[in-house]
Amino acid sequence: MKNIDFKFTDDGSLGLYNKIVDDIYHASSGAYSESYEKFILPSEYSELFKEKDEINILDICYGIGYNTKSVINEFVKKYNNRGKKINITSIEIDKNLVFLSPFVKVPQYDNFIKDIMCFFIANQFQEDFVNYIKAIINNKLYYNYLDNSLYNSNKNIFLHNIYYQYISDSSKNGTLIRLLKSINIDFIIDDARQFIKKTNKSFDVIYLDAFTPIKSPKLWTFEFIKLLKEHMTFNSKLITYSISSSYRNTLINNGLALGNIINNKKNKIIGTIASLNNNLIKYPLNEYELGLLNTRCGVMFHDKSLNLEDNEIINNREIYINNNDIQSTSSYIKKYKGSKKWKNMM
Ligand SMILES: C[S@@+](CC[C@H](N)C(=O)[O-])C[C@H]1O[C@@H](n2cnc3c(N)ncnc32)[C@H](O)[C@@H]1O
Repeated sequence: MKNIDFKFTDDGSLGLYNKIVDDIYHASSGAYSESYEKFILPSEYSELFKEKDEINILDICYGIGYNTKSVINEFVKKYNNRGKKINITSIEIDKNLVFLSPFVKVPQYDNFIKDIMCFFIANQFQEDFVNYIKAIINNKLYYNYLDNSLYNSNKNIFLHNIYYQYISDSSKNGTLIRLLKSINIDFIIDDARQFIKKTNKSFDVIYLDAFTPIKSPKLWTFEFIKLLKEHMTFNSKLITYSISSSYRNTLINNGLALGNIINNKKNKIIGTIASLNNNLIKYPLNEYELGLLNTRCGVMFHDKSLNLEDNEIINNREIYINNNDIQSTSSYIKKYKGSKKWKNMM
């Protein structure tokens, strides 16, 4: 955790920054809002629940859990008690972030979110989780950023509660028991590439929230997306905040239909949605955006055996670009924006 800085974002929810990758975990305009607008809204759960009673969700790059928690928040508020169920598989390589996740300050979530996350984490990680929380309380770590009840209540009572409220079956509170009938979360602490190789599950909704492709391409490669596709059904949705041309080209080369995710209020493109079902794509790419994919910025990242480091993947792409005659992105933009087509589009 030495390499991570904590900072509140503009909507009051906590955001993180990674000094090694030199990348943010969350948008400074609002970590919670970003998750809600870029991941939850485009999933269209109301439509999904018309077709199915049980939805399987894959949250790749759980971090401190905004996407998983926002799905649960939405589910409990709108679909709970209607015979519906959600199963979430949340993957994260950094276990400590998962352990901190129930306690990070996010004013938009109700208290039940903390209880649900604690329940699943405590059940799965038991002593490991309890000892981590004990160290946080003992050393008053991250005091300004975590729920203050963690430090203010008697430490032993708090840890006792983790054990008996969340781990022991006998004393779960009534509300929690009701929620647990319709929600399941499996945490996977691993490199997402290795998990996807091993699992035989398929998912209705996949959230891909990895660091920016250009800085950390390992979860944006042709081979990783090819493998992800094997875990999608015809109507599955693959959703990300990224609008990278390289990633979009990767989707097309894997035979997926894709389109923009648009924030209509701000009239802004905020992400990319992909599916095998073309009918699920509301805002397909226009001619200009498709043309960009054939320029240098559209060159895909490769990781054939799914175990390369980011710098190796970046270097291999650089070598490919230097050895091939690919139109420069800036000359394409200049040419296109000087054309009649562009003026007509404006
Ligand atoms: C942009 S942040 C995701 C933020 C997150 N969705 C949240 O709500 O906090 C990217 C996350 O990916 C994790 N990560 C990086 N490489 C990974 C890998 N190969 N497999 C799984 N997780 C990875 C990082 O530890 C980091 O938490």
